[in-house]
Amino acid sequence: MTITLNHAILGHYLLCPVCGTQAVAAEDAQLNPSNLHCTTCGTEHFAIDNILCLFPNGVHHKTLWQHQLGTMQAQGAAGLAQLQEAASRHDLTSTSRQRIADLFHALKHSQTNVLSLLTRAGLEPIQEPGLQQMELGDLAEYYDLILRDWAWGQAPNGYYPSGENRAALERLLPLLPAELASPASMLVLGAGAGRLSWDLHVELDSQCTIAFDSNPLLLLVADHLIRDQQPLNFSETRMFPQVNQPITHYWDLTPPEDPSNKRHAWFPLAGDVWSAPFKPASFDLIITPWFIDVTGGDVRDLIGTIQRLLKPGGLWINSGPLLFTRHLPLQLKYQNTEILEFLDFCGFDLLNERLDSIAHLASPIEVRARIEQVWSFCARAPNHLESAISTTTNPPAWLVMHHLIIPQQTFYPSQQHPLIDTIVQLVDGNNSINSISAAVAPYIPDDISAKDAVATILGQMVLKAGSL
Ligand SMILES: C[S@@+](CC[C@H](N)C(=O)[O-])C[C@H]1O[C@@H](n2cnc3c(N)ncnc32)[C@H](O)[C@@H]1O
Repeated sequence: MTITLNHAILGHYLLCPVCGTQAVAAEDAQLNPSNLHCTTCGTEHFAIDNILCLFPNGVHHKTLWQHQLGTMQAQGAAGLAQLQEAASRHDLTSTSRQRIADLFHALKHSQTNVLSLLTRAGLEPIQEPGLQQMELGDLAEYYDLILRDWAWGQAPNGYYPSGENRAALERLLPLLPAELASPASMLVLGAGAGRLSWDLHVELDSQCTIAFDSNPLLLLVADHLIRDQQPLNFSETRMFPQVNQPITHYWDLTPPEDPSNKRHAWFPLAGDVWSAPFKPASFDLIITPWFIDVTGGDVRDLIGTIQRLLKPGGLWINSGPLLFTRHLPLQLKYQNTEILEFLDFCGFDLLNERLDSIAHLASPIEVRARIEQVWSFCARAPNHLESAISTTTNPPAWLVMHHLIIPQQTFYPSQQHPLIDTIVQLVDGNNSINSISAAVAPYIPDDISAKDAVATILGQMVLKAGSL
Protein backbone atom coordinates (compact mmCIF):
# COMPACT_ATOMS: atom_id res chain seq x y z
CA MET A 1 0.00 0.00 0.00
CA THR A 2 1.49 3.34 -0.88
CA ILE A 3 0.32 5.59 1.86
CA THR A 4 2.71 8.40 2.50
CA LEU A 5 2.24 8.87 6.17
CA ASN A 6 2.43 12.01 8.22
CA HIS A 7 5.33 10.64 10.17
CA ALA A 8 7.89 7.97 9.59
CA ILE A 9 7.17 6.56 13.07
CA LEU A 10 3.44 6.05 12.51
CA GLY A 11 3.97 4.28 9.19
CA HIS A 12 5.69 1.37 10.91
CA TYR A 13 2.51 0.32 12.68
CA LEU A 14 -0.12 0.52 9.97
CA LEU A 15 -1.64 -1.64 7.30
CA CYS A 16 -4.57 -1.34 4.95
CA PRO A 17 -7.71 -2.45 6.87
CA VAL A 18 -9.16 -3.92 3.68
CA CYS A 19 -6.39 -6.14 2.31
CA GLY A 20 -3.85 -6.15 5.14
CA THR A 21 -0.98 -4.82 3.01
CA GLN A 22 1.57 -2.92 5.06
CA ALA A 23 1.79 0.85 4.77
CA VAL A 24 4.95 2.50 3.59
CA ALA A 25 6.58 4.68 6.19
CA ALA A 26 7.94 7.77 4.51
CA GLU A 27 10.42 10.24 5.88
CA ASP A 28 8.03 12.89 4.58
CA ALA A 29 6.75 14.95 7.47
CA GLN A 30 3.47 15.86 5.79
CA LEU A 31 0.43 13.74 5.18
CA ASN A 32 -0.28 13.73 1.48
CA PRO A 33 -4.05 13.43 1.04
CA SER A 34 -3.72 12.57 -2.64
CA ASN A 35 -1.61 9.55 -1.88
CA LEU A 36 -3.86 7.65 0.47
CA HIS A 37 -4.98 4.85 -1.77
CA CYS A 38 -3.91 1.27 -1.34
CA THR A 39 -2.14 0.11 -4.47
CA THR A 40 -2.81 -3.53 -3.60
CA CYS A 41 -6.60 -3.48 -3.27
CA GLY A 42 -7.32 -0.03 -4.72
CA THR A 43 -9.17 1.25 -1.64
CA GLU A 44 -9.20 5.05 -1.37
CA HIS A 45 -8.50 6.10 2.19
CA PHE A 46 -8.75 9.70 3.40
CA ALA A 47 -7.64 12.20 6.00
CA ILE A 48 -9.32 14.94 7.97
CA ASP A 49 -6.83 17.69 8.72
CA ASN A 50 -3.72 15.74 9.53
CA ILE A 51 -5.61 12.74 10.90
CA LEU A 52 -5.37 9.62 8.84
CA CYS A 53 -8.67 7.70 8.55
CA LEU A 54 -8.34 3.97 7.80
CA PHE A 55 -11.76 2.35 7.56
CA PRO A 56 -12.76 -0.89 5.82
CA ASN A 57 -15.08 1.09 3.54
CA GLY A 58 -12.34 3.60 2.74
CA VAL A 59 -13.45 7.05 1.61
CA HIS A 60 -17.13 6.02 1.80
CA HIS A 61 -16.77 6.41 5.54
CA LYS A 62 -16.29 10.12 4.95
CA THR A 63 -19.72 10.20 3.31
CA LEU A 64 -21.22 8.54 6.40
CA TRP A 65 -19.61 11.17 8.65
CA GLN A 66 -20.77 13.98 6.34
CA HIS A 67 -24.29 12.63 6.45
CA GLN A 68 -24.11 12.47 10.25
CA LEU A 69 -22.86 16.04 10.22
CA GLY A 70 -25.72 17.11 7.94
CA THR A 71 -28.23 15.44 10.27
CA MET A 72 -26.63 17.08 13.30
CA GLN A 73 -26.76 20.48 11.61
CA ALA A 74 -30.42 20.07 10.62
CA GLN A 75 -31.44 18.89 14.10
CA GLY A 76 -29.44 21.69 15.70
CA ALA A 77 -31.10 24.31 13.48
CA ALA A 78 -34.55 22.87 14.30
CA GLY A 79 -33.76 23.07 18.04
CA LEU A 80 -32.66 26.69 17.71
CA ALA A 81 -35.77 27.56 15.69
CA GLN A 82 -37.94 26.09 18.47
CA LEU A 83 -36.15 28.19 21.07
CA GLN A 84 -36.54 31.30 18.92
CA GLU A 85 -40.23 30.65 18.60
CA ALA A 86 -40.55 30.06 22.35
CA ALA A 87 -38.74 33.35 23.03
CA SER A 88 -41.12 35.26 20.73
CA ARG A 89 -44.19 34.49 22.86
CA HIS A 90 -45.92 37.44 24.54
CA ASP A 91 -46.82 35.61 27.75
CA LEU A 92 -43.26 35.37 29.08
CA THR A 93 -41.71 37.26 31.94
CA SER A 94 -38.38 38.86 31.17
CA THR A 95 -36.69 36.25 33.40
CA SER A 96 -38.10 33.39 31.32
CA ARG A 97 -37.20 35.19 28.11
CA GLN A 98 -33.65 35.63 29.39
CA ARG A 99 -33.35 31.91 30.25
CA ILE A 100 -34.45 30.93 26.76
CA ALA A 101 -32.10 33.49 25.21
CA ASP A 102 -29.19 32.12 27.31
CA LEU A 103 -29.94 28.59 26.13
CA PHE A 104 -30.24 29.77 22.53
CA HIS A 105 -26.87 31.51 22.58
CA ALA A 106 -25.04 28.65 24.30
CA LEU A 107 -26.50 26.02 21.95
CA LYS A 108 -25.75 28.16 18.92
CA HIS A 109 -22.20 28.69 20.18
CA SER A 110 -21.54 24.95 20.54
CA GLN A 111 -23.19 24.13 17.20
CA THR A 112 -21.17 26.80 15.41
CA ASN A 113 -17.87 25.78 16.97
CA VAL A 114 -18.38 22.04 16.45
CA LEU A 115 -19.46 22.59 12.85
CA SER A 116 -16.55 24.91 12.18
CA LEU A 117 -14.02 22.41 13.58
CA LEU A 118 -15.41 19.63 11.39
CA THR A 119 -15.81 21.70 8.21
CA ARG A 120 -12.31 23.21 8.53
CA ALA A 121 -11.06 19.63 8.62
CA GLY A 122 -12.72 18.92 5.28
CA LEU A 123 -16.10 17.44 6.26
CA GLU A 124 -19.12 19.05 4.60
CA PRO A 125 -22.63 18.60 6.02
CA ILE A 126 -24.74 16.67 3.51
CA GLN A 127 -28.04 14.79 3.56
CA GLU A 128 -27.71 11.52 1.63
CA PRO A 129 -31.21 10.20 0.90
CA GLY A 130 -29.79 6.65 0.67
CA LEU A 131 -28.53 6.87 4.24
CA GLN A 132 -31.75 8.19 5.84
CA GLN A 133 -32.83 4.74 7.00
CA MET A 134 -29.48 3.88 8.57
CA GLU A 135 -28.94 4.38 12.28
CA LEU A 136 -25.58 6.10 12.09
CA GLY A 137 -25.53 7.53 15.59
CA ASP A 138 -24.84 11.02 16.77
CA LEU A 139 -21.42 12.59 16.17
CA ALA A 140 -21.87 14.66 19.34
CA GLU A 141 -22.84 11.64 21.46
CA TYR A 142 -19.74 12.00 23.62
CA TYR A 143 -19.70 15.82 23.80
CA ASP A 144 -19.45 15.78 27.61
CA LEU A 145 -16.21 13.79 27.39
CA ILE A 146 -14.64 16.77 25.62
CA LEU A 147 -15.60 19.07 28.49
CA ARG A 148 -14.54 16.52 31.14
CA ASP A 149 -11.18 15.94 29.42
CA TRP A 150 -10.23 19.52 28.66
CA ALA A 151 -12.30 21.95 30.72
CA TRP A 152 -13.91 20.78 33.96
CA GLY A 153 -11.49 20.87 36.87
CA GLN A 154 -8.68 22.25 34.76
CA ALA A 155 -5.53 22.57 36.83
CA PRO A 156 -4.68 26.30 36.97
CA ASN A 157 -1.61 26.12 34.74
CA GLY A 158 0.08 22.74 34.87
CA TYR A 159 -0.27 19.88 32.42
CA TYR A 160 -0.94 17.48 35.26
CA PRO A 161 -4.66 16.74 35.14
CA SER A 162 -7.02 17.34 37.96
CA GLY A 163 -10.38 15.95 39.00
CA GLU A 164 -11.71 12.97 37.06
CA ASN A 165 -8.83 12.97 34.60
CA ARG A 166 -6.26 12.80 37.35
CA ALA A 167 -8.23 10.05 39.11
CA ALA A 168 -8.33 8.02 35.87
CA LEU A 169 -4.57 8.32 35.50
CA GLU A 170 -3.94 7.45 39.12
CA ARG A 171 -6.19 4.39 38.87
CA LEU A 172 -4.13 3.00 36.03
CA LEU A 173 -0.52 3.82 36.89
CA PRO A 174 -0.29 1.49 39.93
CA LEU A 175 -1.55 -1.41 37.80
CA LEU A 176 1.56 -1.32 35.64
CA PRO A 177 4.58 -3.44 36.56
CA ALA A 178 7.43 -1.35 37.93
CA GLU A 179 9.85 -2.45 35.20
CA LEU A 180 7.75 -0.87 32.41
CA ALA A 181 9.74 2.21 31.51
CA SER A 182 9.14 4.29 28.42
CA PRO A 183 7.13 1.89 26.25
CA ALA A 184 8.25 1.99 22.62
CA SER A 185 4.66 1.83 21.42
CA MET A 186 1.32 2.37 23.11
CA LEU A 187 -2.14 2.06 21.55
CA VAL A 188 -5.24 3.52 23.18
CA LEU A 189 -8.38 1.97 21.73
CA GLY A 190 -11.45 4.22 21.95
CA ALA A 191 -9.29 7.15 23.05
CA GLY A 192 -12.25 9.57 22.93
CA ALA A 193 -11.27 13.21 23.39
CA GLY A 194 -7.73 12.10 24.09
CA ARG A 195 -6.90 13.29 27.58
CA LEU A 196 -6.01 9.97 29.16
CA SER A 197 -3.97 8.91 26.12
CA TRP A 198 -2.02 12.17 26.40
CA ASP A 199 -1.53 11.99 30.17
CA LEU A 200 -0.28 8.39 29.91
CA HIS A 201 1.92 9.32 26.95
CA VAL A 202 3.61 12.02 29.03
CA GLU A 203 3.65 10.13 32.34
CA LEU A 204 5.09 6.92 30.86
CA ASP A 205 7.34 8.80 28.43
CA SER A 206 6.00 6.67 25.58
CA GLN A 207 8.05 6.82 22.40
CA CYS A 208 4.96 6.46 20.20
CA THR A 209 1.32 6.65 21.27
CA ILE A 210 -1.59 6.10 18.91
CA ALA A 211 -4.95 7.47 20.07
CA PHE A 212 -7.43 5.42 18.03
CA ASP A 213 -11.14 6.19 17.76
CA SER A 214 -14.01 6.10 15.29
CA ASN A 215 -15.41 9.53 16.17
CA PRO A 216 -14.07 12.47 14.09
CA LEU A 217 -15.22 15.21 16.47
CA LEU A 218 -13.38 13.74 19.45
CA LEU A 219 -10.22 13.11 17.42
CA LEU A 220 -10.24 16.61 15.96
CA VAL A 221 -10.65 18.21 19.37
CA ALA A 222 -7.75 16.15 20.73
CA ASP A 223 -5.59 16.92 17.70
CA HIS A 224 -6.36 20.63 17.83
CA LEU A 225 -5.48 20.89 21.50
CA ILE A 226 -2.56 18.49 21.73
CA ARG A 227 -0.72 18.62 18.42
CA ASP A 228 -1.75 22.07 17.18
CA GLN A 229 -1.67 23.55 20.71
CA GLN A 230 -4.71 25.67 19.80
CA PRO A 231 -7.34 26.52 22.42
CA LEU A 232 -11.04 25.98 21.83
CA ASN A 233 -14.14 27.39 23.46
CA PHE A 234 -17.19 25.16 23.83
CA SER A 235 -20.39 25.79 25.71
CA GLU A 236 -22.29 23.57 28.10
CA THR A 237 -26.04 23.66 28.57
CA ARG A 238 -28.10 22.03 31.29
CA MET A 239 -31.73 21.46 30.37
CA PHE A 240 -32.93 20.83 33.94
CA PRO A 241 -32.91 23.94 36.10
CA GLN A 242 -31.07 23.60 39.39
CA VAL A 243 -31.23 26.00 42.30
CA ASN A 244 -28.22 28.34 42.49
CA GLN A 245 -26.61 26.84 39.37
CA PRO A 246 -26.26 28.39 35.92
CA ILE A 247 -27.91 26.53 33.05
CA THR A 248 -25.16 27.49 30.60
CA HIS A 249 -21.43 27.92 30.76
CA TYR A 250 -18.73 28.77 28.22
CA TRP A 251 -15.58 26.74 28.75
CA ASP A 252 -12.07 27.43 27.58
CA LEU A 253 -10.45 24.22 26.43
CA THR A 254 -6.78 24.75 27.06
CA PRO A 255 -3.99 22.91 25.24
CA PRO A 256 -1.85 20.84 27.59
CA GLU A 257 1.61 22.16 28.33
CA ASP A 258 4.29 20.28 26.46
CA PRO A 259 7.71 21.50 27.53
CA SER A 260 9.42 18.32 26.26
CA ASN A 261 7.79 18.33 22.82
CA LYS A 262 6.11 15.00 23.49
CA ARG A 263 3.25 15.80 21.15
CA HIS A 264 5.32 14.84 18.11
CA ALA A 265 5.13 11.20 19.16
CA TRP A 266 1.38 11.25 19.93
CA PHE A 267 -0.84 10.41 16.94
CA PRO A 268 -4.61 10.48 16.55
CA LEU A 269 -5.86 7.84 14.13
CA ALA A 270 -9.42 7.20 12.93
CA GLY A 271 -10.69 3.69 12.28
CA ASP A 272 -12.89 0.86 13.47
CA VAL A 273 -11.49 -1.54 16.01
CA TRP A 274 -13.22 -4.41 14.18
CA SER A 275 -10.94 -3.77 11.22
CA ALA A 276 -8.02 -2.46 13.23
CA PRO A 277 -5.43 -1.19 10.69
CA PHE A 278 -2.32 -2.29 12.60
CA LYS A 279 0.44 -4.77 11.93
CA PRO A 280 0.43 -7.78 14.25
CA ALA A 281 2.69 -7.71 17.32
CA SER A 282 3.10 -3.91 17.16
CA PHE A 283 2.48 -2.67 20.69
CA ASP A 284 4.10 -2.91 24.11
CA LEU A 285 1.01 -1.56 25.80
CA ILE A 286 -2.66 -1.40 24.82
CA ILE A 287 -5.18 0.57 26.87
CA THR A 288 -8.96 0.17 26.63
CA PRO A 289 -10.50 2.94 28.75
CA TRP A 290 -14.31 2.70 28.96
CA PHE A 291 -14.27 0.79 25.72
CA ILE A 292 -14.84 -2.97 25.89
CA ASP A 293 -18.57 -2.57 26.57
CA VAL A 294 -19.37 -0.03 23.84
CA THR A 295 -17.94 -1.57 20.68
CA GLY A 296 -21.16 -3.43 19.90
CA GLY A 297 -19.16 -6.65 19.45
CA ASP A 298 -18.08 -9.70 21.41
CA VAL A 299 -15.41 -9.04 24.08
CA ARG A 300 -13.87 -12.41 23.11
CA ASP A 301 -13.19 -11.06 19.62
CA LEU A 302 -11.76 -7.86 21.09
CA ILE A 303 -9.39 -9.98 23.19
CA GLY A 304 -8.41 -11.73 19.94
CA THR A 305 -7.64 -8.36 18.34
CA ILE A 306 -5.66 -7.17 21.36
CA GLN A 307 -3.71 -10.43 21.46
CA ARG A 308 -2.87 -10.06 17.77
CA LEU A 309 -1.68 -6.47 18.17
CA LEU A 310 0.37 -6.89 21.35
CA LYS A 311 4.01 -7.86 21.15
CA PRO A 312 4.80 -11.14 22.92
CA GLY A 313 4.82 -10.30 26.63
CA GLY A 314 3.01 -6.99 25.95
CA LEU A 315 0.61 -5.48 28.45
CA TRP A 316 -3.12 -4.82 28.25
CA ILE A 317 -4.73 -2.37 30.65
CA ASN A 318 -8.49 -2.23 30.74
CA SER A 319 -10.49 0.21 32.83
CA GLY A 320 -14.20 0.94 32.77
CA PRO A 321 -17.65 -0.37 33.57
CA LEU A 322 -19.47 -3.32 32.01
CA LEU A 323 -22.38 -1.26 30.69
CA PHE A 324 -22.81 -3.18 27.48
CA THR A 325 -24.81 -1.46 24.76
CA ARG A 326 -28.54 -2.06 24.70
CA HIS A 327 -28.62 -4.04 21.46
CA LEU A 328 -25.93 -6.54 22.41
CA PRO A 329 -27.38 -10.04 22.92
CA LEU A 330 -27.57 -11.09 26.57
CA GLN A 331 -25.07 -13.93 26.19
CA LEU A 332 -22.41 -11.38 25.23
CA LYS A 333 -22.94 -9.16 28.30
CA TYR A 334 -20.14 -10.81 30.25
CA GLN A 335 -19.34 -10.50 33.93
CA ASN A 336 -15.76 -9.73 34.95
CA THR A 337 -15.27 -13.37 35.98
CA GLU A 338 -16.09 -14.55 32.45
CA ILE A 339 -13.66 -12.06 30.93
CA LEU A 340 -10.94 -13.28 33.31
CA GLU A 341 -11.64 -16.84 32.14
CA PHE A 342 -11.21 -15.72 28.53
CA LEU A 343 -7.87 -14.13 29.41
CA ASP A 344 -6.79 -17.34 31.07
CA PHE A 345 -7.84 -19.38 28.03
CA CYS A 346 -5.61 -17.15 25.87
CA GLY A 347 -2.60 -17.54 28.14
CA PHE A 348 -2.70 -13.97 29.53
CA ASP A 349 -1.23 -13.50 32.98
CA LEU A 350 -3.37 -11.28 35.22
CA LEU A 351 -0.91 -8.96 37.02
CA ASN A 352 -3.18 -6.54 38.86
CA GLU A 353 -6.86 -5.85 39.28
CA ARG A 354 -8.95 -3.27 41.13
CA LEU A 355 -12.53 -2.12 41.53
CA ASP A 356 -13.60 1.49 42.14
CA SER A 357 -16.87 3.34 42.44
CA ILE A 358 -16.53 6.81 40.99
CA ALA A 359 -18.56 9.88 40.17
CA HIS A 360 -18.57 9.93 36.36
CA LEU A 361 -18.94 13.03 34.17
CA ALA A 362 -19.56 15.24 37.18
CA SER A 363 -19.90 18.68 35.64
CA PRO A 364 -19.13 21.67 37.87
CA ILE A 365 -22.50 23.16 36.86
CA GLU A 366 -24.43 19.97 37.63
CA VAL A 367 -25.40 19.01 41.17
CA ARG A 368 -26.23 15.42 40.26
CA ALA A 369 -23.57 12.85 39.34
CA ARG A 370 -23.58 9.32 37.97
CA ILE A 371 -21.85 6.80 40.18
CA GLU A 372 -20.22 4.09 38.09
CA GLN A 373 -18.40 0.92 38.97
CA VAL A 374 -15.02 0.87 37.25
CA TRP A 375 -13.23 -2.45 36.84
CA SER A 376 -9.56 -2.16 35.96
CA PHE A 377 -6.88 -4.74 35.34
CA CYS A 378 -3.48 -5.19 33.81
CA ALA A 379 -2.68 -8.47 32.06
CA ARG A 380 0.42 -9.68 30.26
CA ALA A 381 0.21 -11.47 26.92
CA PRO A 382 2.10 -14.76 26.72
CA ASN A 383 5.61 -14.77 25.26
CA HIS A 384 4.91 -17.98 23.34
CA LEU A 385 1.24 -18.21 22.50
CA GLU A 386 1.08 -21.88 21.56
CA SER A 387 2.83 -23.18 24.67
CA ALA A 388 0.73 -20.88 26.91
CA ILE A 389 -2.64 -22.27 25.80
CA SER A 390 -3.88 -25.04 28.06
CA THR A 391 -4.90 -28.17 26.16
CA THR A 392 -6.94 -29.54 29.05
CA THR A 393 -9.70 -26.93 29.39
CA ASN A 394 -13.27 -28.03 28.91
CA PRO A 395 -14.51 -26.77 26.49
CA PRO A 396 -11.26 -26.48 24.52
CA ALA A 397 -9.81 -22.96 24.54
CA TRP A 398 -10.04 -22.65 20.73
CA LEU A 399 -13.80 -23.36 20.80
CA VAL A 400 -14.42 -20.42 23.18
CA MET A 401 -11.78 -18.04 21.85
CA HIS A 402 -12.33 -18.02 18.14
CA HIS A 403 -8.94 -16.57 17.19
CA LEU A 404 -6.94 -19.45 18.70
CA ILE A 405 -5.50 -22.11 16.40
CA ILE A 406 -7.36 -25.43 16.54
CA PRO A 407 -4.84 -28.24 17.15
CA GLN A 408 -4.74 -30.82 14.37
CA GLN A 409 -7.17 -33.64 15.12
CA THR A 410 -9.55 -35.94 13.32
CA PHE A 411 -13.26 -35.36 13.65
CA TYR A 412 -15.90 -37.90 12.61
CA PRO A 413 -19.01 -35.98 11.64
CA SER A 414 -22.29 -37.78 12.17
CA GLN A 415 -23.66 -36.59 8.83
CA GLN A 416 -22.14 -36.01 5.42
CA HIS A 417 -22.41 -32.55 3.97
CA PRO A 418 -19.97 -30.67 1.70
CA LEU A 419 -19.80 -27.74 4.15
CA ILE A 420 -19.08 -30.03 7.10
CA ASP A 421 -16.44 -31.91 5.08
CA THR A 422 -14.73 -28.61 4.19
CA ILE A 423 -14.73 -27.49 7.82
CA VAL A 424 -13.25 -30.81 8.97
CA GLN A 425 -10.53 -30.58 6.31
CA LEU A 426 -9.64 -27.08 7.47
CA VAL A 427 -8.87 -28.37 10.97
CA ASP A 428 -5.26 -28.85 9.91
CA GLY A 429 -3.36 -27.23 12.78
CA ASN A 430 -3.15 -23.85 10.99
CA ASN A 431 -6.68 -22.52 11.34
CA SER A 432 -8.92 -20.98 13.96
CA ILE A 433 -12.71 -20.75 14.02
CA ASN A 434 -12.24 -17.20 12.67
CA SER A 435 -10.14 -18.24 9.68
CA ILE A 436 -12.35 -21.24 8.87
CA SER A 437 -15.42 -18.97 9.04
CA ALA A 438 -13.79 -16.52 6.62
CA ALA A 439 -12.98 -19.37 4.24
CA VAL A 440 -16.50 -20.88 4.21
CA ALA A 441 -18.48 -17.60 4.49
CA PRO A 442 -19.03 -17.37 0.70
CA TYR A 443 -20.85 -20.74 0.81
CA ILE A 444 -23.16 -19.86 3.70
CA PRO A 445 -26.43 -17.93 3.21
CA ASP A 446 -26.15 -14.22 4.02
CA ASP A 447 -28.68 -14.39 6.86
CA ILE A 448 -26.62 -16.98 8.77
CA SER A 449 -23.47 -15.99 10.66
CA ALA A 450 -20.60 -18.09 9.28
CA LYS A 451 -18.92 -17.99 12.68
CA ASP A 452 -22.01 -19.26 14.49
CA ALA A 453 -22.34 -22.04 11.94
CA VAL A 454 -18.68 -23.12 12.21
CA ALA A 455 -18.62 -22.89 16.03
CA THR A 456 -21.84 -24.93 16.22
CA ILE A 457 -20.63 -27.64 13.83
CA LEU A 458 -17.23 -27.95 15.53
CA GLY A 459 -18.85 -27.81 18.99
CA GLN A 460 -21.14 -30.71 18.09
CA MET A 461 -18.18 -32.75 16.89
CA VAL A 462 -16.20 -32.00 20.05
CA LEU A 463 -19.23 -33.10 22.08
CA LYS A 464 -19.53 -36.29 20.06
CA ALA A 465 -15.82 -36.99 20.54
CA GLY A 466 -16.49 -36.83 24.28
CA SER A 467 -14.45 -33.77 25.17
CA LEU A 468 -17.38 -31.62 26.32
C1 LIG B 1 -17.38 5.53 26.36
S1 LIG B 1 -16.34 6.34 25.22
C2 LIG B 1 -14.82 6.39 26.13
C3 LIG B 1 -13.85 7.36 25.59
C4 LIG B 1 -12.56 7.51 26.40
N1 LIG B 1 -11.83 6.27 26.44
C5 LIG B 1 -12.87 7.99 27.78
O1 LIG B 1 -12.72 7.22 28.72
O2 LIG B 1 -13.26 9.15 27.89
C6 LIG B 1 -16.04 5.09 24.02
C7 LIG B 1 -15.18 5.55 22.84
O3 LIG B 1 -15.00 4.43 21.98
C8 LIG B 1 -15.15 4.85 20.64
N2 LIG B 1 -15.58 3.66 19.85
C9 LIG B 1 -16.73 2.95 20.00
N3 LIG B 1 -16.76 1.92 19.12
C10 LIG B 1 -15.60 1.98 18.42
C11 LIG B 1 -15.04 1.19 17.38
N4 LIG B 1 -15.71 0.15 16.87
N5 LIG B 1 -13.83 1.50 16.89
C12 LIG B 1 -13.15 2.58 17.39
N6 LIG B 1 -13.63 3.36 18.39
C13 LIG B 1 -14.83 3.08 18.88
C14 LIG B 1 -16.20 5.96 20.70
O4 LIG B 1 -16.15 6.83 19.59
C15 LIG B 1 -15.84 6.63 22.01
O5 LIG B 1 -14.91 7.67 21.82
